[in-house]
Amino acid sequence: MAKIVYYSQTGQTRKFVEKISHTEKIEISPNHFEIEMSESFILVMPSYETNVHPIVIDTAADFLETADNISYCKGLFGGGNRNFAELFCITAKTLSKEYDLPMLHAFEFQGSPLDVKKLEEELLNIEHNN
Ligand SMILES: Cc1cc2nc3c(=O)[nH]c(=O)nc-3n(C[C@H](O)[C@H](O)[C@H](O)COP(=O)(O)O)c2cc1C
Repeated sequence: MAKIVYYSQTGQTRKFVEKISHTEKIEISPNHFEIEMSESFILVMPSYETNVHPIVIDTAADFLETADNISYCKGLFGGGNRNFAELFCITAKTLSKEYDLPMLHAFEFQGSPLDVKKLEEELLNIEHNN
């Protein structure tokens, strides 16, 4: 099964990914991003308006630029809050553009059952296409 790599500043994204069973979840943080991936994964990123939290986007960028990680990244799930309007899921959208990775889905906070289903489906898609 493809893996999940995620960042979580206040725990919402961690709660979201913990709803998925049968796959490994790897948390990255500013002190823990030099992880070499050797299998496909989806990157799940909460959003922090870039001028508020450049550290979040830099951590993801440093992780993606570690070893061959970009080639194993099959896309992004963006967490956020729709009250941020045009900035909804800005972090994942920015990474998707910068690294030319598919933006697979956007969700709020710790995700609804439909968001969980979507992540399960995308993990299975990767498995079948590998
Ligand atoms: C300081 C701050 C800035 C945020 N900026 C955005 C934003 O620009 N866009 C967005 O969609 N959500 C934004 N959010 C909402 C978070 O992305 C959302 O609460 C997310 O679930 C947090 O995930 P985490 O608990 O895993 O860190 C912001 C939240 C905070 C506290």
